[in-house]
This record gives sequence, structure tokens and C-alpha cells, in this order.
Amino acid sequence: MRTLLVAVATFLLPTFITAQSQPQLNLMPMPASVQPGAGQLLITQSFSVAVTRGHDASLDEEVQRFQAQLARQTGIPFRPKAGAAATLQIHADHGRQAVQKLGEDESYELTITDSGANLTAPTSLGIIHGLQTFLQLVEITPTGFAAPAVIIKDQPRFLWRGTMIDVSRHFIPIDVLKRNLDGMAAVKLNVLHWHLSDDQGFRVESKVFPKLTGMGSDGMFYTQNEIRDLIAYAHDRGIRVMPEFDIPGHSRSWFLGYPELSSGSGPYTLERGGPGYVDPVMDPTRESTYKFLEKFIAEMAKLFPDAYFHIGGDEVNGKQWDANPKIQAFIQAHGMKNNQDLQAYFNQRLQKIVAKNHKIMVGWDEILHPDLPKTIIVQSWRGQASLAAAAKQGYSGLLSFGYYLDLMWPAARHYAVDPMADAAANLTPEEQSRILGGESCQWAEWVTPENIDSHIWPRNAAIAERLWSPQNVTDVPSMYARMNAVSLNLEFLGLTHRSARLRMLHRMAGTADITALRNLADVVEPVKDYERWDDAKGPIDFHAPLTRMIDAVYPESDVARHFNDLVQTFIQSGYKDQPTEMQIRSQLTTWRDNDARLHPLLTQTFLLQEDLPLSQSLSAVGQAGLQALDYLDKGQTPPDSWKTQQIAVIAQAKTRQADMLLMVAAPVQQLVEMSAASHN
Ligand code: ACM
Repeated sequence: MRTLLVAVATFLLPTFITAQSQPQLNLMPMPASVQPGAGQLLITQSFSVAVTRGHDASLDEEVQRFQAQLARQTGIPFRPKAGAAATLQIHADHGRQAVQKLGEDESYELTITDSGANLTAPTSLGIIHGLQTFLQLVEITPTGFAAPAVIIKDQPRFLWRGTMIDVSRHFIPIDVLKRNLDGMAAVKLNVLHWHLSDDQGFRVESKVFPKLTGMGSDGMFYTQNEIRDLIAYAHDRGIRVMPEFDIPGHSRSWFLGYPELSSGSGPYTLERGGPGYVDPVMDPTRESTYKFLEKFIAEMAKLFPDAYFHIGGDEVNGKQWDANPKIQAFIQAHGMKNNQDLQAYFNQRLQKIVAKNHKIMVGWDEILHPDLPKTIIVQSWRGQASLAAAAKQGYSGLLSFGYYLDLMWPAARHYAVDPMADAAANLTPEEQSRILGGESCQWAEWVTPENIDSHIWPRNAAIAERLWSPQNVTDVPSMYARMNAVSLNLEFLGLTHRSARLRMLHRMAGTADITALRNLADVVEPVKDYERWDDAKGPIDFHAPLTRMIDAVYPESDVARHFNDLVQTFIQSGYKDQPTEMQIRSQLTTWRDNDARLHPLLTQTFLLQEDLPLSQSLSAVGQAGLQALDYLDKGQTPPDSWKTQQIAVIAQAKTRQADMLLMVAAPVQQLVEMSAASHN
């Protein structure tokens, strides 16, 4: 049962303190203000919703989606009673803009009592967010599903809260994007940044330049109708869609159909693997390049109604420019110092084209150059310092450094990154006001439609909270507890971040029981940062299946985190906390015995053979931990030789195996070291 008073009192403290702040409302992102009430609103079969004054048609559809989601979450087939007062009354003062604008009012107020609920907002955009808050509040209780009595007044901290999805490295179909938009709406994110072209594929139908997809997409692209449909779907959920066409680098897919755009000589083929970027780059010295881009951008500016248009601009290595004498002569003739100046010249020309189409140009850090007008937006992937530098120079910016989901960081590490911290903390208020928000980034080198959800969720919810909630909402245990609740709800929305793992393990195991395989999958994580690239055996091929254990496991292991917490609790108790020790032992015993159960299966399927050493490591770690506990319990000092041997076993277990890391090795090492040190 929830202890509402304790939880809410904690929310209202100026700093968000204590690991004792569970249990609490399962809200994520945490609203700006939460006041407790008495009692709870039972969700019964007669639950009904009424939209009073000021409703628009889109709001009616939103309410229908809300009711359908509440039915999925609770399993209740709602049968409102005719004529009865509505359980939830909704009122929006105004409708919405036909094209969602940055800075449109997103605030709302939600009041729940034991007899009903009221949701009001200046615009129906606030209603969209308030309904998501309501859905998160509904929990199972001893008396039924219920939402606690509460008064919530909420608005976002940042206006721009996005997720970038790369659909070039691996094509991600519309239905997968739609379920991710549902997830974004659930945590109040409001921008899908759609990375639509890169070296590995051009993903948008162009009627003006059909060879872009005709030759540069392997047949995997979105028609313009599909794009309009996705934009409408996002708009219904309070989400803007900003397209990105990454130029002048990251543009090899353009050159299959239009090699004259490039700075080198073709013919070109699609990049089928890594590295992250390759040499081919557009030729900024030819007028024909700009003529092409004028037509292309005019077409895309009509297709994508958002006010912002992302032109990429990252990672131009300049090799093709250096190797082209005509381009070098152009640089000389125009008094430019280097390739950066040439790219700035390109961006200036580009910015005029983008502006002519009534759009605001957005680009990655590298576009920042004093020759560019202050109207552009800089998206920082290289660091908070570069975001702060842009703001100082008068440019608006977005933070993505620290929010790269593909780096496989734990949620807590993303959560700790604040757009206003570090270098930004020393900016003047006016400079700070230029920091519009941030975006998480899901680069798609190592994801497929099957596992992309688990790479985005639930960690994306922690980033969403960082961008929506007050800056002092920073308690990590609270974040994990609430993220877990959100994660469970997201599956009811149709996301597959949890269920896909099970399906993938079953694929690897054939018809065999997967209990032992799950035990192993539960405690490993993919290698971090860009390490998967480092030791790749042979060339990387993005058309190869991603069906290994590393592709199935969660980027962050909850089981390992909980185990680590148990070990810390046990150590802090001076090895006296017996119930905790029992839990640790139970876990270690399962692991010690796991390899014997799993080994036969691992040898039987080609997808699992590489995991044999990892499985052995888990058993060895389990064994080491149990022995350490035995020494601690008996008050005996283990022989030095035992310690040396266990540390060697654990060191081996901590190495990368089948591109994964065994996340319980470190806490077991602590137990071993403690047992050896405690009685000396
Ligand atoms: C980037 O990661 N190159 C934007």
C-alpha cells in the first residue's frame, strides 16, 4: 500500500532527498506540484468521461484513446451508465494549433477526489498530458483499481523534449515508430526528431528526385502518404515531427542516384556497415548543388509542416574536399582558411534556402560558426560546454550529449545529465533561456524493429523526466521505482521492450525451457559506449541478423542493480542483516547452479554457443560469493590463496564475453574482499 503523505511531503521539499522516499505515486515525469488528498477514486465499470466547454474534435479522439488505454491497463470493459455524471470532467479553454508550435501552452491541472476527477488546461495540449498523468496514477489496490486523491498542477521545465530515431542504419517501419510515439506521449516528450538519411540509406520518397530512394534505399523507405500519416499520429499525441536530412557529410546514399552532388568521383554503392561515418561529402562549390537542394528542400518543407528543419552537419572529415583540386582552388579564391570555413559557407547558403521555405535551421554542433545567423538552433552531441558556448554567442540550443541511448548507459547516468548544469550553470539568465531543452538519441547501428523498443525504453522515461520535471527532482532510487512502473504500463500501450526479449530468447533456445537462459540474460548487459564496434570480428554488416544474446538483453540489468543494492545493504549492516544475507545467498545459489542446467542447451544451438564461457563465469561468481559469505558467517579469515584465486576468477568474469558484461561480478568481488579483510 502506498503511504501517500510521506511520499508527497517528500515531493514538496526544496531538494528531492532520501532513499527512504518510496513508496510513492508512480508518476514519471514527476509533475511540478503534487498535493495529496484523502481517499481514492475507484475505477469501476461505470467510469466515464465528459468534455465540457471548449472541446474540439481532436480532444474527443484523445479521450477515446485514453479510455481504450485505461481499459487495456485495467482489463475493465467500461460500460458507462447513461445519464450518470461523468467520473472525469475535462475542460480545455482553447483548442490547439493545426501545426504544433514550440512553446504552445502544455500546462494542466488535475484534481482527483474519492467521488470524481477534474482535468483543466488552457489548451487541449495540456489535456493530452493530464490524461497521461491520470493513466499513471491508476494502480491496483486491495479494493480494486484506483487513482489516489490528489491535486496536481503541472507544466514542463523545457519546451523542447525530444527523441531522435535514426531510420537509416536500420530501417524502422511506421508501425514501430507509432508505438514509440505512444511511449513518448506517455512520458510527455513532444518532439520526434526523425533522422531520415545517412550513408546507409535514404528513407523518404521524393517525387522531384525519385532516384534518392530508387537507388539509395534498398527499397526501404516511407512514402509521402505514410509520412503524412505518421505526422498526424504524432500531432494527435502532442508531438512535433522534425525531419533531419544529414548533409553535407553522412550523405553517401544521395550519391547513388545523384553522383554529381558529391565531391569525389563515383560510382557509389550504399554503405552496408560501419564506421559511423564515411568520406563521401557534398560539393559545396558547385551552384548545381544548391539548385538541387532548393528543389529538394522546397518539396520536404511542404511535406513536413514543423517550423524546424534539421540539416545534420556533423562529422565532415573533409577527405574528399582535400583530394579535390577544384574545391581547394575555391577555398583559396574565397579567402577561406580551411574546411570548416567551407562548411560554414555551405551552411550559410543552406540556411537561406531553409529560411526561404519558412523554416528554422537546426544542426549538430559542427554548424556553429560566427558567420551563421543567430536564428539557427545548435544541437549539442559533443558536450555541455559546446552547448553553453553556443548560448553565450547568442544561439539557441538543445542538449543531446549525455542522452545517447545507443551507448548502453544505465538510466541513472542519463538522469544525472542536466542541460543547465556544468558549463551552462555559469550562463546569465538570458543566455540560459536560449537552452530550449534536449533530445535523447537512438542511433540505429545495432537495433532492428524487433529490439529497438528495449534500447529506447524504459531509459527514455528517465531522460523525459529530466526535461519535464523541476531541476531538483534528482532522487535516483525514486526514479528507478517510478521508471519500473512506467515500464510496465508501456507494454500495455503496445511497446515490446520487455516481451521482445522473451521472444528472442525462445528463438535462441528452440523448444527448450528457457528458465536458466533467462537467469543468465537477467544479469548481463551489452558492452558500453562504442565498444561493440571495437572488437567486431570482420566487417560490420547492417544487413546481418541481430539475433545474438547481446541483441536480446536489456541495456540495463535490473536484477544486477537490485543485487548490488542488497550487497551494499548487507555490508553497511556490518554483515548482520540476516534477511538480506538470505536473499543474497538465494541469488548466488541460483547462479552457482545455473551453468549445470544451461550448459546442454548452450551447446545445442548455434546462437548460444558463444555464451558458454559467460555462463561458466556466472557459476564461478556465484560460487565465490557463497564461499565469501561462509567465511563471513563463521568469522574465519580465508587463506590468501583462496582470495587470490577468487579475485582471478572474478577478473575473468568481468571481461567482455560474447560482447556482454556480467554485471554481478563487481558486487561479488566486494564480498570476497570484505571476507578476506574483515577478520585481519
Ligand atoms: C552525431 O552523433 N554524429 C551527431
